[in-house]
Amino acid sequence: MDSKGQQPLNLTCRKVVTLALFQLGLSAIFFTCVRMSGKPDPGTPVPGTLHPPKQPVNSLPIERRSSNLTILLWTWPFGIPFAIERCSQVLGIPDCYITANRSWYRKADAVIVHHRDVSSSPKRLPQEPRPASQRWVWFNLESPSASPNLGFMDNHFNLTMSYRRDSDIFSPYGTMEVLPRPQNVTVPPKSKLVAWVVSNWDLHSHRVKYYEELKKYLQVDVYGRHHSPLPDSKRFSTLSQYKFYLAFENAIHEDYITEKVWRNAFRSWAVPVVLGPPRENYENYMPPDSFIHIHDFPSAKELAKFLHELDRNTTRYQSYFHWRSWLKPVGQFTYAQHFCKACRDLQKKPLQYQTVPALSKWFK
Ligand SMILES: *[C@@H]1O[C@H](CO)[C@@H](O)[C@H](O)[C@H]1NC(C)=O
Ligand SMILES: *[C@@H]1O[C@H](CO)[C@@H](O)[C@H](O)[C@H]1NC(C)=O
Ligand SMILES: *[C@@H]1O[C@H](CO)[C@@H](O)[C@H](O)[C@H]1NC(C)=O
Ligand SMILES: *[C@@H]1O[C@H](CO)[C@@H](O)[C@H](O)[C@H]1NC(C)=O
Ligand SMILES: *[C@@H]1O[C@H](CO)[C@@H](O)[C@H](O)[C@H]1NC(C)=O
Repeated sequence: MDSKGQQPLNLTCRKVVTLALFQLGLSAIFFTCVRMSGKPDPGTPVPGTLHPPKQPVNSLPIERRSSNLTILLWTWPFGIPFAIERCSQVLGIPDCYITANRSWYRKADAVIVHHRDVSSSPKRLPQEPRPASQRWVWFNLESPSASPNLGFMDNHFNLTMSYRRDSDIFSPYGTMEVLPRPQNVTVPPKSKLVAWVVSNWDLHSHRVKYYEELKKYLQVDVYGRHHSPLPDSKRFSTLSQYKFYLAFENAIHEDYITEKVWRNAFRSWAVPVVLGPPRENYENYMPPDSFIHIHDFPSAKELAKFLHELDRNTTRYQSYFHWRSWLKPVGQFTYAQHFCKACRDLQKKPLQYQTVPALSKWFK
């Protein structure tokens, strides 16, 4: 899709290019060539803070009067209501009126439609005529492999909102926040080697096959359905004991880098061993020395050998945490955060968006 090139995310070497994603607190940064040193050159602008997001040249300041947009959530995502907080409190931006009450349809400036909740039939989309200036936003955080009936969505939407970087409203699973000042990093003690939490156990999947090979050479503790149970309340304390975490995605798509990395691995200070899109794609989100990619090795056997080496050499293992002296991983955004970010993006004047008529061709 050629629209990808239009994003301000076309990264070049020697630059830490930034996009202030969640301003006033949560800044997203994207990496390219941090790999040489693992930290930004002195003199390189600190991502997210000194580099405000590129504004279109002809953009106007936000007009107070019209910033209180009415945003209708066509459904609660997956049918589960949540507290809609004031965006001034969530992101420190002018508030929008966000409601799931469909009586507001005619007055809504934007309607956010969560894919899964309408995917069973085109009749689940709003049927009333669309007010002239109303925008429909297609919202989806699932991968294309888990997004049925995309064809129903063609030619209906004005903006996209997903984990893909080329979405009009970019909603990633996690981002890196730049710390206000460098910090000393102390890696918490670890007593175990490799963990994996998996619920969807598909014998024919790439990730299970890879695991079957890996476990011939390495002890992997597997949790989840069909394996050792791991209640949510124990997740963090359990995974924190491990040096490594297998962040194996269930489907391979560009930018589909999920809470498996952000929540299970980074939050627990376990080095993610990733299976997903290519390494370069991960490096758009996180420093090159923050994770191990299975493609870094010709075979599972070689990967196992490397993990054993790191296990024996503390200095080398700890080098996977150096980036934490200047970055903090932030994951697990709430729906309130996602929708307030949508509110902020929709408040931008002029509102620029790409309009993807054939969603099913774009979202692959
Ligand atoms: C924003 O608009 C909603 C709906 O019209 C209204 O109820 C609310 O009071 C407005 N908020 C502000 C801060 O103007
Ligand atoms: C939906 O909004 C309408 C118009 O403001 C209001 O009359 C109605 O009580 C609301 N319904 C619910 C369930 O809040
Ligand atoms: C939004 O998309 C619909 C369907 O493609 C189109 O008819 C409408 O003009 C668009 N609205 C705006 C404000 O761009
Ligand atoms: C980090 O460690 C250095 C050297 O041990 C020490 O001088 C400095 O105060 C520490 N900084 C913080 C923020 O703890
Ligand atoms: C551990 O790794 C470091 C850094 O890669 C290396 O310099 C050192 O020689 C290694 N130590 C051992 C005992 O292999």
